[in-house]
Amino acid sequence: MSFVLHRQLKNIAPVAVSGRGAWLVDAEGREYLDACAGAAVSAIGHDDPDVAAAVADQMSRLSYAHTSFFSSEPAERLARTLVQAAGASFSKVFFTSSGSEAVEAAIKFARQHFVEKGEPARRHVIGRWQSYHGNTLGALSAGGNKMRRGLYGPLLIDMHHIDACYAYRGQRAGETLDQFGLRMADQLEAKILELGPETVAAFVVEPVVGATLGAVTAPRTYFPRIREICDRYGVLLVFDEVMCGMGRLGSLFAFETVGARPDIVCIAKGLGSGYLPIAAMILTEAAVKPLAEGSGSFMHGHTYQGHPVACAAAEVVLAKISSPEMLTRVGEAGKRLKDGLRARLGNSRHVGEIRGEGLFVAVEFVADADTKQPFPHAARLNARIKREAMDRGLLVYAMGGTLDGQSGDHVLFAPPFVISDEEIDRIVDLFADASAAALDSVLSPVASAAGQGG
Ligand SMILES: Cc1ncc(COP(=O)(O)O)c(C=O)c1O
Repeated sequence: MSFVLHRQLKNIAPVAVSGRGAWLVDAEGREYLDACAGAAVSAIGHDDPDVAAAVADQMSRLSYAHTSFFSSEPAERLARTLVQAAGASFSKVFFTSSGSEAVEAAIKFARQHFVEKGEPARRHVIGRWQSYHGNTLGALSAGGNKMRRGLYGPLLIDMHHIDACYAYRGQRAGETLDQFGLRMADQLEAKILELGPETVAAFVVEPVVGATLGAVTAPRTYFPRIREICDRYGVLLVFDEVMCGMGRLGSLFAFETVGARPDIVCIAKGLGSGYLPIAAMILTEAAVKPLAEGSGSFMHGHTYQGHPVACAAAEVVLAKISSPEMLTRVGEAGKRLKDGLRARLGNSRHVGEIRGEGLFVAVEFVADADTKQPFPHAARLNARIKREAMDRGLLVYAMGGTLDGQSGDHVLFAPPFVISDEEIDRIVDLFADASAAALDSVLSPVASAAGQGG
């Protein structure tokens, strides 16, 4: 009997009691190899003694001081390190406790930026279909995952969306990847012109789409063109690097890999690495200027923002994930994982694409690789894969709705950066078994009949 309102009310998850490196252990003593770091969170793995020591040390000095009265030493140090790491043009950090709050803050900041700049007509936010930016109502409105938005439709804020840049399904016959990237980026210009350039405040975009599409990178032409369009119409470019940032692609920031720099970048998951809740938006000097020279205050805030203990934990995490050795390891480990998955699964007629960058890799499953036809939604292939993997002691981030929020199945791999080669090989072996068993259960006549009935 549990008094927690769990994510699943009818199927209560096991109780995790300990973790070490890339492994978690439940109350029954079962061990799980964490191939997705929860949801791309535990970048440095579980049970890091340096983080524990920094947290204990900070708690013994100062646990909390409200930010309307005080700043704190860990917050000041962490902000300086983040700004220096983000490089030229960035100048300030606003801390929050979750990725949703960071995106929410970016949306509100963009609005205030334009009001203070004397452009109060700028109110529209543009996002992309099949992206996820968080579950608070503003972030959910900017996001384009129809499944997650569906129930809350009547409560959502009126925001606008262009298509995802998803070559596997969107590239036309005879079109190069570069041409495809430009065609998709030009949708932003069309949307800005449709809404009226003087009314658009921000474009919010994941540099690499995570949860809802599965590690989808854009062609190299896409983001430079997006940057050009935002500059042409004076629109703020907001990168949501909550999932793909903080070292996961093999560079500290995802923007380092896409050929364009944003005006605001939101980071979360890997920054706290699961130790304490922390997220941030990092802003350029030009973005902050209207407020700095105007009202002098950002009309937004949360009780726990810039929490000294969370910042102290993040300082240690950041030092580890930004080390050249760690970033190089992410690239090497990611290649081994992708190569391994391709070798074991690449020839399956039910594998459409194996993609991604760094330790951010996904497998998209299809009923038929030639036609790219997805499995029927009712077959719930992704849920079956997750279950089969967990039964084998493997944790993977399995999602449905790859095509349109309803149909399509993909599995995301985002293991801790401390994963060893042996553990990567084990992920591939266990996953090959788990996905074969899940596919069998969908394809066998008895299961198909049950699927259709359900
Ligand atoms: C790209 C992206 N943005 C925002 C969020 C929301 O972050 P949080 O769950 O910390 O609120 C997520 C969470 O998965 C995410 O993947």
